[in-house]
Amino acid sequence: MISTPPVPDPQRLRALHERERRRYVDTHPRSAALAAASAPHFLWGVPLHWMRDWALPHPLFVERAQGHRVHCVDGHAYVDFCLGDTGAMFGHSPPPVAQAVAAQAARGLTAMLPGAMLAAVGEALQRVFGLPRWQVTLSASDANRFVLRWARAVTGRPKVLVFDGCYHGTVDDTLVDMAGDGRTLTRASLLGQVHDLALGTVVVPFNDAAAVDAALARGDVACVLTEPALTNCGLVPPAPGFLDAVQASCRRHGALFVLDETHTVSSGLGGYARVHGLAPDAVVVGKAVAGGVPCAVYGVTDDLARRMMAAKDAAPEGHSGIGTTLSASLLALAALQASLAHVMTADAYARMEATAAALQAALEGVVQRRGLPWSVTRLGARMELQFCPQPPNDAAAARAAMDEALERALHLFLLNRGLLVTPFHNMLLVPPMAGAGDVAAVAQALDDFLAEIAA
Ligand SMILES: Cc1ncc(COP(=O)(O)O)c(C=O)c1O
Repeated sequence: MISTPPVPDPQRLRALHERERRRYVDTHPRSAALAAASAPHFLWGVPLHWMRDWALPHPLFVERAQGHRVHCVDGHAYVDFCLGDTGAMFGHSPPPVAQAVAAQAARGLTAMLPGAMLAAVGEALQRVFGLPRWQVTLSASDANRFVLRWARAVTGRPKVLVFDGCYHGTVDDTLVDMAGDGRTLTRASLLGQVHDLALGTVVVPFNDAAAVDAALARGDVACVLTEPALTNCGLVPPAPGFLDAVQASCRRHGALFVLDETHTVSSGLGGYARVHGLAPDAVVVGKAVAGGVPCAVYGVTDDLARRMMAAKDAAPEGHSGIGTTLSASLLALAALQASLAHVMTADAYARMEATAAALQAALEGVVQRRGLPWSVTRLGARMELQFCPQPPNDAAAARAAMDEALERALHLFLLNRGLLVTPFHNMLLVPPMAGAGDVAAVAQALDDFLAEIAA
């Protein structure tokens, strides 16, 4: 296991953090006033309690977000490397999506009937992601939940397999942890959980192909659901050959191979599976797929589509447990069409890749010059500064490399210098419009931070 190096000087880190907290409060009076006005109306003063997860004394209120910049109500501009935790991966309010949304808004938002653009959307999904048959949902959580239900329905098997450290949204079956002895545990932090999730889920370590094969050999697993690289417990890349081995085990044991590409769509056009020549039975893409408008999609092979339709035809009349009323609304389809045609393009990916590679090199340069045993792991436009010398091989190693005090101080230090990074660990996403000046600003800020906390 990779161990966490000590913070260079904990006392200096604490002093820096305290000064940065005061600086934030002093420079954000309008956000403070809005936080106070919202407090009586919302739990913790925010409409989604995750908004308190930022390392901030009080929430930052947004005046507008455009391109790669967020502007707060106190008049500060931030270069955004969080991008709504991926929803705005191609920049905020991409003009083609904004225009399509405005035009559609004047012509109907939702009707529970398909819009005239549907066939074009299907063609675009197949062109980009390669799979022929699709369904549209409101969120990636929903898409994953529904794919698991389909997988159980078509295989007649009760269990699903996920990896330790996974996150696939608010999908009960996936909200599990792995005990020290390898048992599957219901995640302790879940609220209101009454079912033992170990009854329907098997969890194994990422990058352990033998454990996957052994679990699938029991014959009761409907599907493996995974991100191609874990991105939610720190970035854990797949070892060479690991995903091919999982895919082969799935084929051998009659389980479906499902890839959640919601974050790994950063890898390149069509997502990690397309870029690396994998052949999943189903793929889920959410968040950024419609340019930030609530929408997600799941695509399946022709063979799986036939099995899904047969399962539905054979079931008694009534609710399938799959779908929600606002899914595939006219608004979402219009945004999806514009995003696939004009935003999620090869050209955009080329720019993201080039700037992300430059940012990785710049951050690695700072870390090396400062003599720190840290690494920068990158998946196309997404990267993670990790407090370990090599990218972690599994979730346990990723967790061991985390240092919450260091992260929170760093995030606030960067924010006070006009740079937003994702509040969960040290993830940075690089949108197509970021450039050399933005790279230099992050590298300089990291260097200044490290200089101040050096022992
Ligand atoms: C890999 C992955 N899948 C699914 C989701 C769920 O997305 P949403 O919260 O939009 O439903 C997330 C959210 O972070 C994610 O990281």
